[in-house]
Amino acid sequence: MLDNSSPQEPPDAPAESAAVLRVVCASEARNVETPYATLEHIRDAALRHNPQVGIHAALAFQSGWFVHWVEGPERAVDALCARVRDDDRHYGQRIVHLSRGPRLLMTPWSMMLSTNPESPLLMRERVLHLTQQHERGRQYAPSSVMRRLTAPMQLPEALDLPDPECYTRVGLCSAGGSEAFDLLRWLANERELFVDYRRFAGESGLDAGGAFVDQMYGAYALRLIAVARADLLHGLRRALMQDWAMFALLLCNDPERNASLLDRVEEAFEGAMSVPEIVLVGFDGDLVGQALRHGAALRLNARPAPYADPGRAPTVWRALSPLLKNIEAPPASGWPTVASAAAR
Ligand SMILES: Cc1cc2nc3c(=O)[nH]c(=O)nc-3n(C[C@H](O)[C@H](O)[C@H](O)COP(=O)(O)O)c2cc1C
Repeated sequence: MLDNSSPQEPPDAPAESAAVLRVVCASEARNVETPYATLEHIRDAALRHNPQVGIHAALAFQSGWFVHWVEGPERAVDALCARVRDDDRHYGQRIVHLSRGPRLLMTPWSMMLSTNPESPLLMRERVLHLTQQHERGRQYAPSSVMRRLTAPMQLPEALDLPDPECYTRVGLCSAGGSEAFDLLRWLANERELFVDYRRFAGESGLDAGGAFVDQMYGAYALRLIAVARADLLHGLRRALMQDWAMFALLLCNDPERNASLLDRVEEAFEGAMSVPEIVLVGFDGDLVGQALRHGAALRLNARPAPYADPGRAPTVWRALSPLLKNIEAPPASGWPTVASAAAR
């Protein structure tokens, strides 16, 4: 059934000339021993070819599977998908999303490696489910497809809800240290939650960490996502961040670092369809005030959380909890499929 109800479909897609073809494919890797090295080799080739034909791509590796998200001019995307299909590093390429519209990936290349040791069979089930849905005319936003395949919500209570992707996502990033990750570890320890780690990288440079924990929060599931500062400008991260309801920035006692984090956040959301509410967490009124003024100058919609020392996870959690309660119900995640999808 065609689902036209999605609030996530970009409301005013530009004229066809400005639109790109967006394709997400899943395939099984032949070599699962050294996935990061494989991703790096593929990145080298992609950077040789993709930019000159206007293609932006993101590649994820999860449980022995690749998920390849490609956007660009139709002919170039078709040619790339055909070339990749013949690559003997993988097999069984399946389309799990196909649409036309504005670019959602803002950088030429980004990639993600999941370290979750789940069985490839579980991943296969998810791919088959999305493939079948797609063949029946129902699909999801590319960012939702990425999440459904590589970081699915698995809380039993959330899976009983009508749309298992319909959960609240809140990002966390520290201006100075690793307090965002410390908060997740503390919470996981307190509540016996599982911290799921990821490695993200862009066109160059070292990879940066990401992690999340899921828990029920009122009637909905809540995912808290810690991101490294270096990850904020990667294309895949930038696309995923647009689905967050809130982004909490944990300030440090160096105003320059706080300003630099806000600069990065502003750059990360440039051209975004949707920007989360930005919440500043700090223990010093002057520092928070400075950061708020800097955020306002950047036209970021930022507000302060109740004062809390970002170095002390329990106080940060206490400061954020009341704000989380006020977040509205997350939107549904379905998208209409494009007419030509059936023909492919
Ligand atoms: C899952 C997967 C995704 C790939 N993505 C790309 C890509 O986005 N761009 C690209 O040029 N090559 C990509 N490749 C590699 C191509 O299949 C092919 O090996 C490469 O483009 C050949 O480049 P070369 O002729 O310069 O060696 C991918 C390969 C796999 C297995």
